[in-house]
Amino acid sequence: MDRKFERLQEIIESHGGRVSHLIAILQEVQEEYRYLPEEVLTYIATAMNISPATVYGVATFYTQFSLIPKGKYVIRVCDGTACHVRGAEPIHFALREDLALPKGDSTTPDMQFTVETVSCLGACGLAPVVVINGDEVHGQTTPESILGAVKKIVSREQLKENKNSSETGCCQNA
Ligand code: FES
Repeated sequence: MDRKFERLQEIIESHGGRVSHLIAILQEVQEEYRYLPEEVLTYIATAMNISPATVYGVATFYTQFSLIPKGKYVIRVCDGTACHVRGAEPIHFALREDLALPKGDSTTPDMQFTVETVSCLGACGLAPVVVINGDEVHGQTTPESILGAVKKIVSREQLKENKNSSETGCCQNA
């Protein structure tokens, strides 16, 4: 088996290949790849003995699934009513500007960040709310506070990169 499909096969097997678990399987697979590549959907259909149309149908029906690659950090700005009236839009604009997102794109060219707007996240008391990678919740955010959070991520990534470079001896004299 192609090595890149090994993990995929493990996920399918952990669910006993049950069609009723298709959504859970797609969720786990998306966590692994950060999106659902076309070849992966085809593999799932074949491995589970269901039609590719069924798999595509589920993958495109639910907004939680993405068929296009996303950045390492997915920043979701809530634009539900409560968040909108408390300033979601300036937060969204500030993020796009700070990350220099090309017009019409939601992911930075280096695949580090994706910025999206979502409808109510169910935490209206904390409006405006921004969630990073599904579990880092920022409440009562301002453009400044969220740009501060992004800055921290960028510094952390920079540190990791420097550490990797010094461990591999790469680019010391660059
Ligand atoms: S409107 Fe943003 S959490 Fe409800």
